Amino acid sequence: MKLTSLVYLDPALQATAQQWASRFALPCVDGSSVAMAKPKFLQRFLVDQCAGEAEAFVLVLGDEGLALHAVGPDSVSIRADFHGPTVTYRRKQGGGKGQMIAKAVGLRSGVSPRVLDATAGLGSDAFVLSSLGCQVTLLERVPVVRALLEGGLVKARIFGAAQDPGLLEVLDRMALVEADSLNYLREISELERPDVVYLDPMFPVRTKSAMVKKEMRVFHSLVGTDSDADGLLEAALSCARYRVVVKRPRIAPALVGPPPSHVLEGKSNRYDVYTLEKLPDGLNAIARSHR
Ligand SMILES: C[S@@+](CC[C@H](N)C(=O)[O-])C[C@H]1O[C@@H](n2cnc3c(N)ncnc32)[C@H](O)[C@@H]1O
Repeated sequence: MKLTSLVYLDPALQATAQQWASRFALPCVDGSSVAMAKPKFLQRFLVDQCAGEAEAFVLVLGDEGLALHAVGPDSVSIRADFHGPTVTYRRKQGGGKGQMIAKAVGLRSGVSPRVLDATAGLGSDAFVLSSLGCQVTLLERVPVVRALLEGGLVKARIFGAAQDPGLLEVLDRMALVEADSLNYLREISELERPDVVYLDPMFPVRTKSAMVKKEMRVFHSLVGTDSDADGLLEAALSCARYRVVVKRPRIAPALVGPPPSHVLEGKSNRYDVYTLEKLPDGLNAIARSHR
């Protein structure tokens, strides 16, 4: 699906909008006249920006930050959200270190590993890990997805500075890097090697299934199938100091390579954990980086 334009919904956002638009060589369109209109008028305005394409993407910059709007049968907006009510509730009231993802990376009292999330996507998993005290480097290779991540981080930082200092601490532990993970993992210096490499490659979804959420279908059409994921596991195993964690749909086969050391199974997902060495007590990436 083609990315056709960038629409901004507030004249005050024009300069920022132009920066994003020039990054993707897109026309930058003033949509402020429909910003407060009924959703169907905004929708029609976005369809008009798609130059006759039956299915296309439009970047939309509004008060909520940068979003990618899919125009077509699956009309939906996707964004990276690090400060909305749902993520905030999970950060403040969620299961803490008892969550499966926390156990998978080896988080426990006194152990906060440095994690390299080599398939960052919209950053939800990285944000959970950072909320729990990990220092997380996020790698994402698709430029538009990386833009959504950047937009989400900027918006969350503005929100945090105004009303949630705890959020700023979480964001300070997240670093976004523009890279293809395969190259990054292979070329990393000894000093930069992470404690844990976290992988969550796309898994082919049955695109017609009603069970698959619209957002997932759209995201899938944006990034493809990550058919090179097996190579990522091999590179991750050579790069991580202590373990590699692979998130998979519960029914999906493991990535090609050695069998996982152990598996944590949830309702719809599971974590395949490849242990290289035991995470030592007192391993604290933040303390280490301040020495
Ligand atoms: C299923 S999504 C990850 C979702 C993420 N865990 C989250 O919580 O939002 C997979 C992402 O990994 C990215 N990806 C896959 N292979 C990659 C690679 N070799 N380098 C960088 N990014 C990659 C894809 O572009 C996609 O955005």
